[in-house]
Amino acid sequence: MENEFLNIVDKRTNAAYDVPLNQGTIRAMDLRKIKTGPEDFGVMTYDPAFMNTASCKSAITFIDGDKGILRYRGYPIEQLAERCSFLEVAYLVLFGELPTEAELKGWVDNITHHTMLHETTKKFLEGFRFNAHPMGMFISTVAALSTVYPEARNVLDPETRKLQIYRLIGKVPTIAAYTYRHSLGFPYVYPDNELSYTENFMNMLWKMVEPKYRANPVLARALDILFILHADHEQNCSANVMRAVGSSQADPFVATAAAAAALSGPLHGGANEEVLKMLDEIGTKDRIPAYIEHVKAGHGKLMGFGHRIYKNYDPRARIIKWAADQVFEVTGRNPKLEIALELERIALEDEYFIKRKLYPNVDFYSGIMYQAMGFKPEIFTVLFAIPRTVGWLAQWQEMLEDQEQKIARPRQIYTGYEARDFIPMEKRGVKTTSVTS
Ligand SMILES: CC(C)(COP(=O)(O)OP(=O)(O)OC[C@H]1O[C@@H](n2cnc3c(N)ncnc32)[C@H](O)[C@@H]1OP(=O)(O)O)[C@@H](O)C(=O)NCCC(=O)NCCS
Repeated sequence: MENEFLNIVDKRTNAAYDVPLNQGTIRAMDLRKIKTGPEDFGVMTYDPAFMNTASCKSAITFIDGDKGILRYRGYPIEQLAERCSFLEVAYLVLFGELPTEAELKGWVDNITHHTMLHETTKKFLEGFRFNAHPMGMFISTVAALSTVYPEARNVLDPETRKLQIYRLIGKVPTIAAYTYRHSLGFPYVYPDNELSYTENFMNMLWKMVEPKYRANPVLARALDILFILHADHEQNCSANVMRAVGSSQADPFVATAAAAAALSGPLHGGANEEVLKMLDEIGTKDRIPAYIEHVKAGHGKLMGFGHRIYKNYDPRARIIKWAADQVFEVTGRNPKLEIALELERIALEDEYFIKRKLYPNVDFYSGIMYQAMGFKPEIFTVLFAIPRTVGWLAQWQEMLEDQEQKIARPRQIYTGYEARDFIPMEKRGVKTTSVTS
């Protein structure tokens, strides 16, 4: 609503200020004019972890965490997961509209023709130790692409940007598959451009000596759906990193590597790997109540539960549960599913979880499904990074085209010493009377 104001009275000076409100938000810079005098810096906001700060305007993804709603460019995630392919959704997320048939064909062709890695990049991957974590390899190799495509630095040119978008979306499955094959000591498999995006990924992961890899269509579709669900999630930790690094006009390869680094943490994309470790640790259904009591007593968290934004069932978790059932028809049931279902049931009836609105999130069931499909837990976060590359790039593009954005540079409240004199070595260790402010 326009013409709404927040009236703030500064009790220090008794001055009143009308601060414009737009969509329930005030501009932090408007608080600067609230001063006690000309020398005063003005009022700032303090918001560790961005709990109540909008860092940008975005038209990409909408989440209503209380109602459990997720939409890309206005389309409900449920409809996209049911009706679209991943690359179709990628186009939507990046360019704002669903593609026409011709646009989709052109888009898929462009992505498909950028799936190969430069041979030197392949050699670079060979340098990692046999037991290197796939996510570490993924992050480093994506960053290394910056050395292969130095023109990517020209981030203000839309055509150059588009080319890097093709390259990144085309190459991340190849890098991901190579990290996996490397950890197993298997030879690398080159992309097969006759296959769909997810089928080709499966080909690069699992092809052995057969002349042509044929993906199981149910598993390929399930993976495609998982990719759709992970494509974007508005201003999460890694998207924020992508925007922050991109705001310095660093190239998209290093910015994507930085975003992937943020994703690797156990509180973000690393959680699905942690869920499987947790289910292993629990072991049997009868040990669930004791495990929950352990968590409630403050010893760790129930991995795959809780979310900064969703205070309701994560809509993606619901779709994953459905997709997992399709996968289990092919692979047989993952025995961990029984433990997960029981854990969910008990947690959702427990006062601790009810009071804190802690529900299963996207990571709770995805790991169980990935494991049934034959993925090792170490690669789960890489599976998240492949589709999320689309979201990172969409956020990056939007940031670069936003006239209001500048290099991201937060303020701080300084809590250290006031100015004090240098202490020569021989006098250090002697108690001084300096005070902290
Ligand atoms: C996702 C997550 C980081 C969100 O954190 P957050 O928004 O900062 O929420 P908080 O840590 O402030 O949690 C609020 C309360 O719920 C508790 N809580 C949050 N997640 C919990 C979990 N998974 N298990 C047990 N308790 C949990 C916190 O201890 C806190 O309790 P308190 O009020 O008694 O101190 C957090 O829920 C978490 O660590 N979950 C497990 C990891 C995970 O699944 N991550 C994937 C996210 S998609």
